[in-house]
Amino acid sequence: MLHAAAEVFPLVKTGGLADVVAALPPALERAGADTRLLLPGLPAIVDALEQQRAVCEIGPAFGAARVTLRRGQLPSSHMPAYVIDAPYLYRRGGGPYQDASGVDWPDNLQRFALLGWVAAHLAAGELDAAWAPDVLHAHDWHAALACAYMAAHPSGACRSVFTIHNLAYQGHFALADFALLGLPASFGAPSGLEFHGQLALMKAGLQFARRVTTVSPTHAREIATPEFGFGLDGVIRDRGADVSGILNGVDGKVWNPQHDPALVVSYGADALAGKLQCKRALQREAGLEPRAEAPLFGLVSRLTAQKGVDLLLAALPALLGSGAQLFVLGSGDRALEAALQTAARAHPGRVAARIGYDEALAHRLIAGSDVILVPSRFEPCGLTQMYGLRYGTLPLVRRVGGLADTVVDAGDAARATGFVFDAATPEALSDAMLRTAHAFRGPDAWQAMMRRAMAQDLSWDAAAASYLALYAQAAAG
Ligand code: ADP
Ligand code: GLC
Repeated sequence: MLHAAAEVFPLVKTGGLADVVAALPPALERAGADTRLLLPGLPAIVDALEQQRAVCEIGPAFGAARVTLRRGQLPSSHMPAYVIDAPYLYRRGGGPYQDASGVDWPDNLQRFALLGWVAAHLAAGELDAAWAPDVLHAHDWHAALACAYMAAHPSGACRSVFTIHNLAYQGHFALADFALLGLPASFGAPSGLEFHGQLALMKAGLQFARRVTTVSPTHAREIATPEFGFGLDGVIRDRGADVSGILNGVDGKVWNPQHDPALVVSYGADALAGKLQCKRALQREAGLEPRAEAPLFGLVSRLTAQKGVDLLLAALPALLGSGAQLFVLGSGDRALEAALQTAARAHPGRVAARIGYDEALAHRLIAGSDVILVPSRFEPCGLTQMYGLRYGTLPLVRRVGGLADTVVDAGDAARATGFVFDAATPEALSDAMLRTAHAFRGPDAWQAMMRRAMAQDLSWDAAAASYLALYAQAAAG
């Protein structure tokens, strides 16, 4: 199996995609599948790759004079990984998709065309004489072109699988640049990559992969509807039963309250006192009043329209009225960042906001909070609510996508693991927060929910088994 993606935790991460790309391949390996990764040669990746050696000098491609395929191991997981070393396209500061000021790299089409093109040639057995995959698994629009290149040259035995992590990011480029890709002209039509007068690289995966997945069963149904399809619901519907949903898991090596170096003290379902110490430490760190009896709501998120942070800001009076506290860690939209900072200044000791990206603080926040908020407008899977479950931090989520598939509302007393609301309105969120704050004051039922949440099986092994079954279908179909 070859996994092609643009991010991998902890080297390059803008969101949950990186966590998945770090955890799914090792889970497939544990299940017995020979699995490797293909990553763009971003500095953090090339510089960290262990035991690396050149596999193939590819030569000039997509404007880069020198392109070398290297092979090595990822540092912590020891997973075998190929890296495309193309300094002209990848060796620069800033992020994987944007420069340091948040502007898309002007040559993203070439940068991600190269990723897809190398993936397809590796899949065809042309680049590594010693290895070729049976299945190429491409993640999100960044790697989607692999599926189109493979479809354009269908000689090999390798089959493609494409996973949608976020349909809101489609990789739009000027249609006039289609010629750069070196694909047959017919692939530039609406039945191919064309989307309302532009190119949408996401469509290369949606149209040409043998199987298409997304990261939860509920989201697989949602993306076939106009509300959640981002204009591509027709394409999804046309693929019919080729589209399915497989829920992400939690990497227990990274997210485990019993062994978490970021925490002041470890804890488990049998030793919940440690969690209270984490809460105290977090309140101190955030400058929140040191009150054990105040329910502490936490949120760790990219600050975008997707995440419903505007709903949270509008529902703040209800939260404060219930005697609760709020701690937000996030970065993204400048207006949301500013609004959160304003709220923190207006309510010192009760609301705190840290703007930025801080992996260790994310762990401390998820461990120290009583409730993890995920009020998303849409959420393909969502990982922070699953981290919350693992840490006994009850999720308060909107009933969408993977949130609906992972959290059971307190109304179902025998199975409850959190709090779920329906409408994407400040009122619905306010009601849910009041309900949650009220429930927090009944410690026995709350602790029963915590224990049930912590006992939930969220391991990657179930997902790996589902992907292996899907790969077998793709190979047979
Ligand atoms: P998405 O991929 O849509 O951003 P997920 O819930 O799938 O949402 O994954 C988000 C990941 O990014 C989680 O691992 C979360 O802990 C992490 N994360 C998001 N924002 C921050 C931040 N500001 N600091 C640290 N980690 C963050
Ligand atoms: C995306 C989605 C998120 C999902 C993650 C990993 O970024 O927004 O819901 O958990 O990918 O699959």
